[in-house]
Amino acid sequence: MEKNPIISDDPMIFKMVKRRSTKSMFRCFCFLLLMFMFFSGCLCIGSGTILAGQSLFSNQTIISKDGKFELGFFAPGNASNFYVGIWYKNIPARTVVWVANRNNPIPQSSHSNSRLAMSEGNLYLYANSVTIWAAETSNASEAVILDTGNFVLRNASGIIWQSFDYPTDTWLPGASVGFRGFSNTEMKLISWRNPEDPGIGAYSLGMELNGGSELFINRNGSERRWRSGVWEGGAFPSLSRGSNFLNFTYVSRDDAVYLTYNVYNEGLISRIVIDFLGQLRLLAWSEASQVWILYETQPSNACQQYALCGPNAICDIRNSPTCGCLVGFVPRVRQEWDLFDFSSGCVRTRPLQCASENADFIKVSSIRLPANPESLEIRRRNICRIVCSVNCTCHAYADNGAGGCLLFNGDLLDLERLSSNSSAGGDLYVRMDPVALPGKGNRSFVLPLALAVSITAGILVSCFCLCYLRRKLKSKASHGAHQNLLLLDLNSNGTAYNKHNSVRNGNGQENNNQYELPIFNFSSIVAATNDFSITNKLGEGGFGPVYKGELLNKQFVAVKRLSRRSGQGLEEFRNETELIAKLQHRNLVGILGCCIEKDEKILVYEYMPNKSLDFFLFDATKKEVLDWTRRVHIIEGIAQGLLYLHHYSRLRIVHRDLKASNILLDAEMNPKISDFGMARIFGGNDSQANTKRIVGTYGYMSPEYAMEGLFSVKSDVFAFGVLMLEIISGKKNAGFHGSDCLSLLGHAWNLWEHDRVLELVDPILDVSCSRPLRYIQIGLLCVQDRPADRPLISDVAAMLNNEQTALASPHHPAYTAGRTLANANPRESKVELCSINNMTVSLMEAR
Ligand SMILES: *[C@@H]1O[C@H](CO)[C@@H](O)[C@H](O)[C@H]1NC(C)=O
Ligand SMILES: *[C@@H]1O[C@H](CO)[C@@H](O)[C@H](O)[C@H]1NC(C)=O
Ligand SMILES: *[C@@H]1O[C@H](CO)[C@@H](O)[C@H](O)[C@H]1NC(C)=O
Ligand SMILES: *[C@@H]1O[C@H](CO)[C@@H](O)[C@H](O)[C@H]1NC(C)=O
Ligand SMILES: *[C@@H]1O[C@H](CO)[C@@H](O)[C@H](O)[C@H]1NC(C)=O
Repeated sequence: MEKNPIISDDPMIFKMVKRRSTKSMFRCFCFLLLMFMFFSGCLCIGSGTILAGQSLFSNQTIISKDGKFELGFFAPGNASNFYVGIWYKNIPARTVVWVANRNNPIPQSSHSNSRLAMSEGNLYLYANSVTIWAAETSNASEAVILDTGNFVLRNASGIIWQSFDYPTDTWLPGASVGFRGFSNTEMKLISWRNPEDPGIGAYSLGMELNGGSELFINRNGSERRWRSGVWEGGAFPSLSRGSNFLNFTYVSRDDAVYLTYNVYNEGLISRIVIDFLGQLRLLAWSEASQVWILYETQPSNACQQYALCGPNAICDIRNSPTCGCLVGFVPRVRQEWDLFDFSSGCVRTRPLQCASENADFIKVSSIRLPANPESLEIRRRNICRIVCSVNCTCHAYADNGAGGCLLFNGDLLDLERLSSNSSAGGDLYVRMDPVALPGKGNRSFVLPLALAVSITAGILVSCFCLCYLRRKLKSKASHGAHQNLLLLDLNSNGTAYNKHNSVRNGNGQENNNQYELPIFNFSSIVAATNDFSITNKLGEGGFGPVYKGELLNKQFVAVKRLSRRSGQGLEEFRNETELIAKLQHRNLVGILGCCIEKDEKILVYEYMPNKSLDFFLFDATKKEVLDWTRRVHIIEGIAQGLLYLHHYSRLRIVHRDLKASNILLDAEMNPKISDFGMARIFGGNDSQANTKRIVGTYGYMSPEYAMEGLFSVKSDVFAFGVLMLEIISGKKNAGFHGSDCLSLLGHAWNLWEHDRVLELVDPILDVSCSRPLRYIQIGLLCVQDRPADRPLISDVAAMLNNEQTALASPHHPAYTAGRTLANANPRESKVELCSINNMTVSLMEAR
């Protein structure tokens, strides 16, 4: 077949004509040509371009600008059918890289009468005026074969259609395989039927939705034949032999997931093909020897075939038989002579019970990791094991080497034992119930007698256990199963978050009787707090350290790990916690759940992004955030929270450790009281009583509480008064060094008596009027020495709400004149009033 190549370097067709003609002939020809163009509107084909209105006839081709690729009509091999395709211009044995009409060949009879025409913005392939293939875009102004081998339709705005989006069996450098445009366009290679028929063949090479960065060869669409393994740093371990001249790029965006590759040396001609037998081939052209050199072919051996050995088996090409079971597994189908059917794979010697989450994991080294991983990006190290062990569907895990985890659910497929120096290998950790470990009786060959004996014994024992277990399980079931903290969703967790409903209804009765406190398993708490890492620590409270926990959905919780000396039983602790967790109010920190396990008692709270009040109040610069309005809002919020605890909750909680560091601030700087009910959770007595344990913090403790261990709602009111004065003055009570070693209370009282009390107000506050006066007076009323003189928190709330309420005149506060801690109780004279010690006293045994 004759071809009329039109060299694309030529600006116009004239150059070619010039070579053959004299000047006059040229003029004549030119005239004829122009006439021809005028009437037929075609043939002006240069720079590898078909312009609007032009046609490429079957005796013509277009060539890319750099002369590398040629597009035209061809018949493969000895076939009599014709196709429009692209091949390498300079490679003698025609190597077709793209076919337009692969399923609709042009019969030989129509060949001379066929053309590729640009008309009305579309590209049509006509044979005898019948359209047999089209690229319909409506808006294209030209069709161009680019230097990359990409045949595009474009207009002034850019490319509208490209052959790279519709590859046949060849993947050229720069082209993509994967998904584009929200998965609407799948770019995958599909093999030819045979070397003389480019029609849709049986094998495809592409990516899969949810298949990660791997490449797959499938047969007949969905039957998986091979997978590449995960793309890593520009290469696939299974295609490593091309890595010195090309690299792969994996792109994952919201609207596209694809792989592309690029060849370092632009002069090198290379391609990836899926051939009609289902083999992936990576080839590069050797200019010197004028042959294609095969760098890689896959699948390259039996073990490379996808899941050859079936589930839970390992393929090892050096072994005979090639397939073997993972430790802890036996062949699913046992035949005579203990041979087994490879493809049916292996099953566990005993099914996973997942009775406890203390899964054991067996490490299998140097292995091609199983297919279908679920990958989890976690910035923390060493927690894949924990994440896997808390979910029974996770049968194995591996570290992905980049701080993330690969989790494998269910059966493990397509494992191959690799030589230990293979870069494609990884370590897999396979879940085992503790009993199924080797050496603990997984040998199934037993004497019949022994079998009979053990069965009888087993039945007896089971009968015994069953009754016991049933009772045990019943009691356990009522408490609900342990939950995974990592999976907690704060937004959907109505139980812990319905407090917003119960805020303003005044009497605040909890209406949710079905409330069940989530109990989290310890390992998920370890995972969330990065193993209680020091970097996650938020602070050290009176009852133990508090950590920031991160859930899988990136929400945060606060985890309080209670110190272990609580004398309370676990059941008691749980019941108390449940009661306390039911207290829900806008000004109380919500408890999300707890964990009681392995001597651990842990409470999980909602996380407060703005830390605690003391963090702002006692810091010279941060306190500027707290203007007067905010401070009033905080005082009122604390009063409301306390009012709820004292009067409206059904438990009548005395906080006993109210202080600035126990007032947490949420994102909008709303105050939330924390640590309420701790005394109770820790096994304190019910209401006002003498207690042998004193919980409290110097500076906030009422005198009767500090010295006699007497606590009541009035001791909380005292602490509230101290807090009020601190908030107004911006100074700590404990650690305040006024003249004569006066505490903040003494100082305030001094000013009050001398009518200079507005001097107490934090100088950074811009309050011109005398509003603070009323607040200081309420504060002083709360810190009066005698409990009987102090108002109830309900009175305080009324005074705060209603400016018309007349205020009593305060008596002198505690710790000033008259009674002091030191002289009232000489035995405790070591306690320094002026100490800056702000520690919580959590244990003070009475003798
Ligand atoms: C190419 O084919 C077209 C259409 O069949 C014909 O008009 C033209 O003369 C042919 N050109 C050559 C050089 O054969
Ligand atoms: C080019 O084609 C695109 C897509 O069909 C279209 O939106 C755009 O208006 C066209 N531009 C021109 C200059 O015709
Ligand atoms: C693929 O599908 C075709 C028709 O759907 C069928 O004839 C052929 O046997 C299948 N090939 C294999 C290997 O399953
Ligand atoms: C692949 O090679 C290109 C060109 O040499 C380079 O820009 C790119 O960063 C490489 N990609 C990777 C993942 O190494
Ligand atoms: C366990 O993992 C599977 C797969 O990721 C998930 O569908 C399931 O919800 C998980 N179950 C629990 C209890 O976390």
